[in-house]
Amino acid sequence: MSSAQPSAALDPAAARALLDRARQARAHAYAPYSRFPVGAALLADDGRVFTGCNVENASYGLANCAERVAVGKAVSEGARAFTAIAVIGPEDVQPCAPCGACRQVLYEFGPDLPVIVPSADAEGYQVQAMGALLPGAFGPARLAESQQARGV
Ligand code: THU
Repeated sequence: MSSAQPSAALDPAAARALLDRARQARAHAYAPYSRFPVGAALLADDGRVFTGCNVENASYGLANCAERVAVGKAVSEGARAFTAIAVIGPEDVQPCAPCGACRQVLYEFGPDLPVIVPSADAEGYQVQAMGALLPGAFGPARLAESQQARGV
């Protein structure tokens, strides 16, 4: 790839590099119950990458998804603006879309966030926008609008 891209996240080399970080994070997944390891890599606007993996529990409902671990790490380190997130499931070339709960959490910090997942084609990845993954989303803007209108 020689031509410059307007968005670092959509640059193929950058997208593949982020996916690779997610793949590396997946190696740390604690998923003895589902045996479904997931890795995530969240690229902040300042260039930092926050990774996450799923962390399960004997009390099944307490499982943390990889994406939400990454978001928690990022926000707790002062990052709130993000360029893209890469998510990878157990298979290197099969897409693994974020679950519904993770979509809502990601939407909070990036209503337009590109979500990069692996694919089996020559590109090696595909990108989906949060807007497509969570149409009609409920988010901070709706709350703020209502609070302002009602003066609360
Ligand atoms: N999982 C994730 O980490 N992210 C998702 O978006 C989908 C599901 C995890 C949760 C659980 O540990 C395992 O995958 C099976 O659901």
